[in-house]
Parts: sequence; C-alpha cells; structure tokens
Amino acid sequence: MKISVIGAGYLGATHAICMASLGHEVVVVDVDSEKIALLKGGTLPFFEPGLSELLSSVLETKTISFTTDITAISECAINFLCIGTPQNREGIAADLSALERAFDSVLSVAKSDSIIVGKSTVPVGTAQRLARELSNKKSDTTLNWNPEFLREGHAVADTFEPNRIVIGALAPSDARVLADFYRSFSPNTPQFITNFPTAELVKVAANAFLATKISFINAMSEIADATGADVTVLADAIGIDDRIGRKFLGAGIGFGGGCLPKDIRAFLARADELGLGESLAFLQEFDLINQRARSRAVAVALKELGNPKGKKVAILGAAFKPESDDVRDSPALEIAQTLAALGADVVVNDPRALASAAEKVPDLTYEESITQTLQGAELTMLLTEWNEYRSLDPEKVIGLVKTPTLFDGRNVLDVGKWQTAGWKLLALGRSL
Ligand SMILES: NC(=O)c1ccc[n+]([C@@H]2O[C@H](COP(=O)([O-])OP(=O)(O)OC[C@H]3O[C@@H](n4cnc5c(N)ncnc54)[C@H](O)[C@@H]3O)[C@@H](O)[C@H]2O)c1
Repeated sequence: MKISVIGAGYLGATHAICMASLGHEVVVVDVDSEKIALLKGGTLPFFEPGLSELLSSVLETKTISFTTDITAISECAINFLCIGTPQNREGIAADLSALERAFDSVLSVAKSDSIIVGKSTVPVGTAQRLARELSNKKSDTTLNWNPEFLREGHAVADTFEPNRIVIGALAPSDARVLADFYRSFSPNTPQFITNFPTAELVKVAANAFLATKISFINAMSEIADATGADVTVLADAIGIDDRIGRKFLGAGIGFGGGCLPKDIRAFLARADELGLGESLAFLQEFDLINQRARSRAVAVALKELGNPKGKKVAILGAAFKPESDDVRDSPALEIAQTLAALGADVVVNDPRALASAAEKVPDLTYEESITQTLQGAELTMLLTEWNEYRSLDPEKVIGLVKTPTLFDGRNVLDVGKWQTAGWKLLALGRSL
C-alpha cells in the first residue's frame, strides 16, 4: 500500500521505517530539512535500537522516500500524522499548532478517498474538532485517531507487535481499512474500535496511570526516608500482589521524557477547560512528587558534598531512560544542571545521549569515557540505569574516584556488592 508519514520524529521515523520494511511504499514528510537530509543519507536523527539497520535496508529496497514537499503524499491511501504536541510555552496545555498546520497541509493535497490517521497524543476533543473541519470543507477524506503506545528503547518491536491497537472513528466502518492494515502484520494484537474521545482518552489515561504508579512509589519513598523503611523492599512486597504488579514501582529520581510529563500536564489543562479540574487534581500532586524526586536527589548530593564549589561530581546518565538518546525533560540532565549551577565540577557520561544532551545544555562538561568521568570524582551519581553502569565492577572502579561515594538514583545496584568493595552507597527511600 502507498502510505505517508507526516512528521519524522521518534514516532514518525520509527513507524515509517518499520512499515517500509514490511513492503509498503512509504513517503515521509517533515518540515525540518536537516532531519530529512540525514534520513535520506541513511542516518537516524536519534538513537533507537535496531532502527538504523532497518533504515539502511529500506533505503536499499527503495520502499521509503524522504521529502519536505507535502505534495508528494497526493497518491497515498493512508496518511499518518506523527506531529509533536509539546507543552505550550505559556502554560501546561498541549501546543497543537504544528499538528493543526500539518493537518491542513495534508488535507490540501491528499486524495479525496484517502484516510488521515492521527497518531499524535492529543487532548480529548481534538479529533472531533478536526472531523468537523473535514465536514465543513465537504471533504470525503476519512479521519481516524490511532494513538501510539510504543516505548522508546523498544520502539521497533512495539511497532511490529503492538500490545493493542486503538482506533477512534466517527463510525466503526470508517476504521475498517486501518484495522485491516494493522491486522495484516500483527494479527493477534487486540483491536479496540471506538469513538474519537475514547481513543484519545485511552492514551492519556494510560500515561496518567503509569505516572501515578511511579509517583506513588516515590511518595512512599519520601515516607520511607523519614521513617527508616526501605522503599525497594516495600515495592517488592506490594508488587508481588498481581492486582498491584511490580512494574513501574521503581523508586528513584522519577519519570521524564517527551511524553509522560507533558501528557499529564496537558490532561490536567484539558480537565480544567472541561470544568473537571477536581477529577484529575491527584495528577497535579503526582507531577509535584515527580519534580520533588529531582530536588531530593540534589539535596542528597549537597548533604554529602557540603559546599559543592569546585568538587567533581561524576554523572552517569543523561538520557531520560536507558536505550534512548532522548533528553527531553530528563531528570538526570536536570540534576546535573542544578549541581553545575551550584558550582560543582559536573562531568556527564552517557552511552548514547551525549550529543543530544550537549545540544540541549551546551554549558555542561560531557565525557565519552566512563573511566575519565569517574577519575577523581568526589561523588558519583547513577541517574540513568544503562546496563553499562549496572555492570560496572565496584572493585575495579573504586581506584578511579577520589571519594568512593555513589548515589544510586534508580535503586538498581547490588548494594551488598558495592559496599563490600568499599563504597558508601546513597539512595532515595532507604538508608544504606
Ligand atoms: N516519542 C514517543 O515515544 C511517543 C510515543 C507515543 C506517542 N508519542 C506522541 O507522538 C507525537 C510525536 O512525538 P515525537 O516524539 O515523535 O515528536 P518529535 O518532536 O520527535 O517529532 C515531531 C516531528 O514533526 C515534525 N513537524 C512539525 N510540524 C510539521 C509539519 N507541519 N509537517 C511535517 N512535519 C512537521 C517536526 O519537525 C518533528 O520532526 C507526540 O504527540 C507524542 O506525544 C510519542
């Protein structure tokens, strides 16, 4: 099938490359000419495991093309909108301006019997509004809303085998082509064909729930800090109950990235607009708990360092999570920045995110070698749980640092092993 993907960011590039590898003829359009040039040349503008190899193969088979020219989509049967919906600069609502511009430009050139599929995460009510626009323009184009649940770091597998497909449409018959499209490569994935508001809400409700779980355990971590309890044992012991589940109960410095933080804020803003602020007031609290986790980490560092001026702090991790180079709203990078602003001599290492971090926060010191990062450190902070850090040998690296004190911001290290090797370990939610 000839399809287009509008927006070649994390979501769009992944979706486009995976669909091309299945044999679809894919046209990718983005307004960012640098991004398009990179992709054309076979370079991904971000890191995602396995995706670069797939890009090379679809460029070779010529099943994909990249352009800034929107008219290139005019023959496509399905047009996927994968446009960013970031937090508004002036408030906490989502900024839909880029999505609206892209929708209008697609509509102006798409063939009349084609389908426009919104994959971006949007406030409830958006799809209905865009569908009204179609009907006002007497367009025959069909609109589907098909939120995306892929996880950065696992995006390729999640695209080929999503755990669910949700399609919002004006009528179930409008969703048939898209439902068949997904069924052709992922026949066992449960599909939910529903109306627009439900489809939009499934996505933001899922993110709100995940944020709630993480912030819940971080709230417990605050209580544990004050009472001498151990939040990791607490998480294991409550998570063993399969009604609760252990996943997303990792206490630490909290969540970040390009989705969860802005999505829960946009959800709060939308609830306020609907006069339902009370229904989601708990999310406001969970956003604050999440931000507090970052300041609690800084407080632990300052307690340890005393006056931080000129003291070397080795920061292990810049990405918001492992297996990604995404530093959008990264807790690790914010903690590094705060300590640097307080005068510490901060050196940041990350296996994949040094370039994106340096682009976002140019005035920090970045170091590619873990050895050099640790050399002479008075405090080491593990802030992104990359395997490279989890598998460090505490006996080997103790010789590098000036002071063998390590803050495990993700509660992932084998405490006994590190302590036996002579390290003092610090963490949130447990006294070690
Ligand atoms: N990144 C994820 O893991 C993920 C997962 C699920 C859902 N989402 C949602 O998907 C959407 C996109 O997220 P992302 O992370 O890929 O964002 P992104 O910022 O990485 O990419 C968005 C792309 O859209 C392009 N763009 C903007 N206006 C355009 C226009 N008029 N025409 C063509 N291209 C245009 C930008 O240049 C950019 O390359 C968001 O709503 C996000 O919440 C993302």
